[in-house]
Amino acid sequence: MARFDNKVVLVSGGARGQGAAEARLLVAQGAKVVIGDVLDNQGQALAVELGPAASFVRHDVTSEADAATKWALRGMTKSAAIDLGGRKIRVNSVHPGPIDTDMIAFRTPEQREARMKQVPMHRYGRPEEVAQLVAFLLSDESNYITGAEIAIDGASSA
Ligand SMILES: NC(=O)c1ccc[n+]([C@@H]2O[C@H](COP(=O)([O-])OP(=O)(O)OC[C@H]3O[C@@H](n4cnc5c(N)ncnc54)[C@H](O)[C@@H]3O)[C@@H](O)[C@H]2O)c1
Repeated sequence: MARFDNKVVLVSGGARGQGAAEARLLVAQGAKVVIGDVLDNQGQALAVELGPAASFVRHDVTSEADAATKWALRGMTKSAAIDLGGRKIRVNSVHPGPIDTDMIAFRTPEQREARMKQVPMHRYGRPEEVAQLVAFLLSDESNYITGAEIAIDGASSA
């Protein structure tokens, strides 16, 4: 039995970058994945690439709840974990440091170098590394982890 057999996962912002890496890993490990994003073409193309276990829906995370600042998300994670713990629903948040995706493609080589020097591990994270963390948090292996805010940032926030 695969790790995520019989699980359905919505990956918002899943058309590219970290979300796409998560969608790829989760499908590879047995999940059915719904990719939500505002990038229709990239989202559709990824769903086709991943096959019948994946589908794409246009989903703008800002339109419903206006989805909140990062600080607000930290508080929401904890209060939701408290409220939902009794229903066996876990809520965690992942806080990436500099990750090598299109989001930071605008940086010049000099800017990249300067940013890397600020990271204690002296490198950018890879989207696949974030995906491994997310898969762990979604899996039964992390059953007692809830209300946690987990940095994946090469000690940038340390
Ligand atoms: N890359 C980094 O260095 C870094 C650092 C800290 C935090 N983050 C955060 O990590 C998350 C993923 O970023 P990434 O690095 O994969 O960047 P990315 O730009 O490669 O991917 C972001 C994805 O989110 C989608 N998106 C943007 N606005 C959306 C909306 N309103 N509704 C639905 N989807 C939307 C984009 O279309 C894109 O597919 C972002 O929230 C980003 O702020 C990234």
